[in-house]
Amino acid sequence: MAHSTGDSRYTYEEYKQTADWLLSKTQYRPTMAIVCGSGLGTLGELLKDQVVFHYADIPNFPQSTVPGHAGRLIFGNLNGTPCVCMQGRFHLYEGYPLWKVTFPIRVFRLIGVKMVIITNAAGGLNQDYKVGDIMMIKDHINMPGFAGQNPLSGPNEDRFGLRFPPMSDAYDKDMRKLALAVGRELGYSKMLKEGVYCGIGGPNFETIAECRFLNRLGADAVGMSTVHEVIVARHCGLRVLGISLITNKAVIDYDSELTANHEEVLQTGKDSAKYLEKLVTTLLQRIELNNNVC
Ligand code: HPA
Repeated sequence: MAHSTGDSRYTYEEYKQTADWLLSKTQYRPTMAIVCGSGLGTLGELLKDQVVFHYADIPNFPQSTVPGHAGRLIFGNLNGTPCVCMQGRFHLYEGYPLWKVTFPIRVFRLIGVKMVIITNAAGGLNQDYKVGDIMMIKDHINMPGFAGQNPLSGPNEDRFGLRFPPMSDAYDKDMRKLALAVGRELGYSKMLKEGVYCGIGGPNFETIAECRFLNRLGADAVGMSTVHEVIVARHCGLRVLGISLITNKAVIDYDSELTANHEEVLQTGKDSAKYLEKLVTTLLQRIELNNNVC
């Protein structure tokens, strides 16, 4: 199998090769993809009648190197919807170039996915946010993008999308409204938020000055993922619902003794995953019933 290494980007044929390989190994034809954030991999366990692939076995796939990211691609049914779920994603801080970080998104497009639910663990910059809150992402700030790190940089692949794609409508309004309505019906009103996610490169958590800066820029939550996947998903025409679980409060006070750490992020993920799971499964049921969003 040909693998892209070093700086050589994936060719269209390599995306296609991976998509065709997956389609040849499963009967599933998912319309929905789910990307699990740190500590949120249990979302994948909800899929019924699973067909599971380890990233190491999938041609061209990068490998997860982070604790809390299992490295499995799961096909299955979630409340009647055929889904594909990434248990473990790729990050800039792992040393991967962004075209590698976002490889699975284009593969999803080629296997017939129409919509992607992208979840993440994030630090709460908005001082009204509490640990355990669930934030529907309404917009993002792509910090690495300001420094020239964009998954779409390099020659444009016209078969996926436009050279200059808009991003003002990145997060699907109808899906977000539906997700918020479902959350309220489930009794989650107090923990439900809608806000702006700021993607940073990581791997270090932010300084106090950086948190203050990001908050003043208009960000409600900060994390090390998502924005690149969303950009590539929108470029190739996928609809996107983004959901952040607030796993820790970002420190903005010089007198605070708090420090962010990965263990807290994973623990909050464990504690609150059940709410996120319930929300996503009920949402999918609703989409299936309405059959108007997907
Ligand atoms: N900062 C960046 N990424 C994160 C955080 C944070 O506070 N929490 C979870 N992911």
